[in-house]
Parts: sequence; C-alpha cells; structure tokens
Amino acid sequence: METDTLNKSVSLSETIRTIYQRRAVRKYTDRPVDRELIEEVIDAGRMAPSAINHQPWQFYVLTDRKLIHSLSKEIAGTALKEFVKPGLKGAIKQAGHLLHFSDGFHFQALKDPVFHGAPVVIFITAPRDNEWAPLDIGMCSQNMMLAARSLGLDTCPVGFGKFVEGTEMFTKLRVPASEHVLLSIIVGYGDEHPELPERAKNNIHFID
Ligand SMILES: Cc1cc2nc3c(=O)[nH]c(=O)nc-3n(C[C@H](O)[C@H](O)[C@H](O)COP(=O)(O)O)c2cc1C
Repeated sequence: METDTLNKSVSLSETIRTIYQRRAVRKYTDRPVDRELIEEVIDAGRMAPSAINHQPWQFYVLTDRKLIHSLSKEIAGTALKEFVKPGLKGAIKQAGHLLHFSDGFHFQALKDPVFHGAPVVIFITAPRDNEWAPLDIGMCSQNMMLAARSLGLDTCPVGFGKFVEGTEMFTKLRVPASEHVLLSIIVGYGDEHPELPERAKNNIHFID
C-alpha cells in the first residue's frame, strides 16, 4: 500500500485493474452524481503532473440536464457547419465520428448527440498561451477518468465538446477570453458495458 498527499490509500494492483477496466461509455442511467463525487474526481485531476507545475486547468461543470441537452444539440449543429466548410464528403465522415455509438443507434442520441445522455459534463479549459496545456489537460483528464471508474462511475472524453466555443450558449459558461476549451469529459452511471476496442501491440521499439 502507498499513500498519496491527499492521504488516500492506493494499491498498485488496484490502479492497474482500474486502468484496464475504464471504457468510453456512451449510454447512461438517469441517476444523478453527488457533488462530492464530482469534486473527488476533479481532485484526482488536480494531482496530475503539469509542465513547470503550472496546473493550467479550469473546470466548468454542468449538471442541469436540460442545459446539457440543449448545448449538445447546438454543439452538433456547430460542429457539422465546421465540417461542411472543407467539403461534403469530409462532413459526412466527420458526422459519422460525431454520432459515435458503441452499441448502435439509440433514442438518447437524438436528445443528446454529443454528451450521450450523461448527467454531468465537465469542460476543461486552459490559457490559450500555454503551449504545454494540451498535454497537461490530457494527463489531468486521464486521472479524472480513472478516479471516476474507481468510484463506480463511468466517463467518456468528448473532444467534440470544444465546439461549445462556437455556440450562443457558450457565454453561460463564463469562460474568460484568455482561456480555451481543450476537452470535455462526461461522467455518470453507465448503462452499457462496451467491449475493449482492440489495442495495437506492434508499437514497442526496444533499442538494444
Ligand atoms: C481526445 C479524445 C477525444 C475523444 N472524443 C470523443 C468524442 O467526441 N465522442 C465520443 O463518443 N468519444 C470520444 N472519445 C473516446 C474514444 O473514441 C475512445 O476513447 C476510444 O474509442 C477507445 O475506447 P476506450 O476509451 O473504451 O478504450 C475521445 C477520446 C479522446 C482521447
């Protein structure tokens, strides 16, 4: 057993098991997530390493389902408009990515095409002028998703969340102009158990 600075006990084998168990979940039950659990997930994100310890992250948390659904539809519209710019063929391909379902089409996707019916959406932003921030936010996000899994929650990183910046509702988030959205993470109690998508194994290069 090891103890971290928040005095939480962690065992290595548990950590590795959680890494393997985490899946991108795209179907959720209606069960809301307690605010304390959301804060615990964000606390784990704060423990991530960051370049020069700048901790560039800010977390904007949405728990209002109506707002999440409206935002989801507006983001889908904004993203599609962006995709159409370079051409219809690319737009159709990208729309396929947007409608990214692990278990086929389901009704929730009509109501919430981007956030998959999750009860919590966390937008993670960072200063626009921090060149390391995308890496820092990646580390922070993975910490959050692993912490969520170990607390019995499911998550999915949603890159499409960044299109929130092109929506009219974006002002509701009150993100300062000096920051930009790098990723969103949805959190909730999953209503599916996706298979592990295949992992490539031909990418280790030992140089002896
Ligand atoms: C940076 C990033 C952006 C992603 N964006 C989306 C997204 O917009 N919508 C979505 O449904 N999944 C998204 N995903 C989830 C990936 O599709 C998923 O992680 C991948 O298929 C592997 O599945 P796994 O997470 O279950 O191992 C994203 C993942 C990452 C890391």
